[in-house]
Amino acid sequence: MDIAFVRDKFPSLKKGYTFMDNAGGSQILGGSINYISEYFLNYNVQLGASYQVSADAGQVLKNATEKISEFLNTPNSQEVIIGPSSTMLLRILSICISHNWQAGDEVIITNTDHEANVSCWKDLEKKGIKIKVWNVNPESFELDLNELSNLISNKTRLVAVTHCSNVMGTINPIKEIARITHDAGALICVDGVAFAPHRRVDVQELDVDFYVFSWYKVYGPHQAVMYGKLPLLVGMPGINHNFFKAEDVPYKFQPGNYNFELTYSLKAIPEYMVDFYDHHFSDNKFSRNEKFEASFEIIATYEAQLAQELLSYLKSVKEIKIIGSSSADSTLRVPTISFIHPKFKSSEIVELIDKKKYRNSIWRFLCQTAH
Ligand SMILES: Cc1ncc(COP(=O)(O)O)c(C=O)c1O
Repeated sequence: MDIAFVRDKFPSLKKGYTFMDNAGGSQILGGSINYISEYFLNYNVQLGASYQVSADAGQVLKNATEKISEFLNTPNSQEVIIGPSSTMLLRILSICISHNWQAGDEVIITNTDHEANVSCWKDLEKKGIKIKVWNVNPESFELDLNELSNLISNKTRLVAVTHCSNVMGTINPIKEIARITHDAGALICVDGVAFAPHRRVDVQELDVDFYVFSWYKVYGPHQAVMYGKLPLLVGMPGINHNFFKAEDVPYKFQPGNYNFELTYSLKAIPEYMVDFYDHHFSDNKFSRNEKFEASFEIIATYEAQLAQELLSYLKSVKEIKIIGSSSADSTLRVPTISFIHPKFKSSEIVELIDKKKYRNSIWRFLCQTAH
């Protein structure tokens, strides 16, 4: 992977500061920054009017949403719902989907999920929805599929699960989880926030019903996206003004509208992944879809090298305990690595590393400490 090429795409890195908080959020692409200005300079008008600039604004936003749809491989661009954060989109989903649920219906959540995919479901207990918790195996720190099969019943309406643990970096076998969930007649809602910055998200390949992630972790601004299968989205009530109809997807899930300039800026992300491919390979025989795949594969390989370097170091310090898998295998984990040291508080380790902010060192990559 050509690091100079990558760095050049992120203007904030020119200051030389080494950011190590990628597990929490990424730097933004220069392309995204430029598109935000471009939107304000050329299209900052009311949408839906007959004059040319308004029509152009509507068209460029439609085009940006189609680019996102292509990036996630959604069958239909109507299935792309934009919102301010993953937390908000998951909350909107929980409110809308549960309208048609009855007391006694069940939702399965996990104890390895971020609160964003937990609280919104737990709050449904107030209307009689039963919440079951799928716990990670305390030895392996993995979600055991047999345990899911034990929990799931003919009352299960939804399984809410993360694609990747934001604390341990473990990748969950979502395709397999989706199959078990669908066999039981239930739906699956996946939090992809910790996964999407590192690997390609292909919602059709995964066969998930709902998939949510945040762009500020995937080289973009503070916005999030939710994919939902169209018939499911049409079949549930929305949360927008009353005059929106069932088929007004995605609008009925975007109360107060989505952020136009930031949505417009998102098209820089798929563009970057295609540029990334074109820079690394001279042939041009791949489709854009294949280029997304190939680019993420290069990233995964590079990340595995970095993860291996850090894990080898951590394993060499006998006091350190790694929380979760100690394998660098890119099919099993992303390079978010948690560890504890008996003598240092996690915050102390961070402060020590802070002092090396401009230096190349083994620490220069995704690293998250655990208490
Ligand atoms: C796994 C995971 N899910 C959800 C969220 C919440 O995302 P947002 O800040 O967009 O609400 C985070 C934030 O760090 C996260 O790590």
